Parts: sequence; C-alpha cells; structure tokens
Amino acid sequence: MPNVLLLGGTTEASALARLFAERGVAATLSYAGRTEKPRAQPIPMRIGGFGGVNGLARYLRDERVTHLVDATHPFAATMSANAVAAARAADVPLLALTRPAWLPAAGDRWTHVPDIAGAVAALGGRPRRILLALGRLHVAAFAAAPQHHYVLRFVDAAVAPPALPDHHLIVDRGPFTVEGDRALMVGHGIDLVVCKNAGGTGAAAKLAAARALGVPVVMIERPALPPRAEVTDPHAVLAWLDHAPSPAKRGV
Ligand SMILES: NC(=O)c1ccc[n+]([C@@H]2O[C@H](COP(=O)([O-])OP(=O)(O)OC[C@H]3O[C@@H](n4cnc5c(N)ncnc54)[C@H](OP(=O)(O)O)[C@@H]3O)[C@@H](O)[C@H]2O)c1
Repeated sequence: MPNVLLLGGTTEASALARLFAERGVAATLSYAGRTEKPRAQPIPMRIGGFGGVNGLARYLRDERVTHLVDATHPFAATMSANAVAAARAADVPLLALTRPAWLPAAGDRWTHVPDIAGAVAALGGRPRRILLALGRLHVAAFAAAPQHHYVLRFVDAAVAPPALPDHHLIVDRGPFTVEGDRALMVGHGIDLVVCKNAGGTGAAAKLAAARALGVPVVMIERPALPPRAEVTDPHAVLAWLDHAPSPAKRGV
C-alpha cells in the first residue's frame, strides 16, 4: 500500500489531498508553516521544515514513505530541489504536480525579468502606482525603489508593517475574479502590475484585468529546477502511484 508524502501549500496540492481522501490513499500533507491558518484538509497534516535534504531523507525513511509528491509552488525552488535530492538519497520515487507557466495573450504588455532584483530594476525612476502581487517575503526588495506607491495583497495581516514608505495593504486570500481585480486596479489608479509567473487559474485574474485595462505587467519568470518527472493533472498522480516502483514492491 502506498504511503505518500505530499509537499503542499498550493491549490493543486489541496485538490490532490481531496482526491487522496476520496480514493482512500494513505497520505500526509506537508506545509511549510508560512501562513497563520492553513486550510483545513481531509488528510493528516504536518507543518514546518524538515531540516534540509538530510532532514527530509530521514523523514522519508523514518515515516516509511513510499512515494513523494512535490506539489509546492513553482517558486518554492529550495524545497523542490531538496525533494529531488532527498528522494534520491532515500530511494523513494518522486513526482512533481505542477502547472504550466502563463504565456502572454493578444493585448498583453509584459516585460519578462528573471528574478525579484530584475523586477525592481524594471520599474524605472518615474514614480508609479504598482500592484505588487508577490507575497510578503519578497516585498522588502522593493524598498530600493521607494518613489513608487505600492498596493500589496497578502494572505495574512503582516506581522510587521511592510518596509515600503508609500503602500496600501489589502488582506485577502482569494479566490480573485477579473471584475474584482479590475475594480481594484481602477480604484487604486494602478499603472503597473508586478507578479511571478505562477501559472494556473487561481491567480490569473489580475492578468486578464491588466489586459482589459491596457496596464503593463512585469512578469518574473520561474526559477530553474533540477530535472524531475512532472505532471499537471492530479489524476495522473493516481496513475503514477499504481505504477511507480515503491520500496515495498521492490522488496525493500
Ligand atoms: N514561493 C511562492 O511564491 C509561493 C507561493 C504560494 C505558496 N507557496 C508555498 O509556500 C511554501 C513555502 O514556499 P517558499 O517559496 O518559501 O519555499 P522554499 O524557499 O523553496 O523553501 C524554503 C524552506 O521552507 C521549507 N518548506 C517549503 N515548503 C515546505 C513544505 N511544503 N513542507 C515543509 N517544509 C517546506 C523547507 O525547509 P527545510 O529545508 O527545513 O525542509 C525549505 O527548505 C511552500 O509550501 C509553497 O508551496 C509559495
């Protein structure tokens, strides 16, 4: 019988957790512990880091995990790289459940940048009104461009106020709609959106709203990850569980 460790923190991981519960697949969902109140889940949860590659490899062995599924966010590059290395060290098969990157459509005005520093550099000197759709961990870098007005949207109220001299903070975990994001951008006079190329539908409303309003977007592209098997459909994970050689099937 599979005993799955599911690395989560995304809509996709929650969808897969529901599927595991429906199908009676034994699985534990792991959260980093970044948000105050993670969503309630229909399978057992654990919260907090493992302690790097060695800590995760130890967890896989100690908990007799047979399959590791990485459904973390495409920008959770450290966790995903650790998962590849720990799966190899513990000899546990790994599959990533991810989502295709967003591609520009007709009418989009995107500037592609490789990382947060590239996004800060792309803002230019003229003061602008910017929707910074990034999450609180990355906001501090924008203190290097204090001439802009920033509108921030966080899942939780910030523990400490964001280190930006001119900002407006909205606390909302979505789901977001195109109409809602359009109204937000008009209401705040937004003339630039900065976001990460997360992919998926959950956070795409702001892009459609920006397109409709002719607002340009600074798009931070995804970090590079080590090679690994990937699927985009939660049902493909179930098929993989049926066929991946678990330690038990190998007689370990
Ligand atoms: N980065 C984003 O834009 C973003 C957006 C939405 C949601 N998230 C979610 O937020 C979480 C943290 O993202 P991040 O970008 O800070 O990750 P990260 O930089 O890749 O990971 C940093 C450390 O956090 C711990 N960690 C990360 N994800 C974990 C998980 N699911 N379970 C247990 N420990 C985890 C690991 O600690 P140890 O080394 O101690 O094991 C990891 O080395 C992830 O679960 C991700 O799916 C991230």
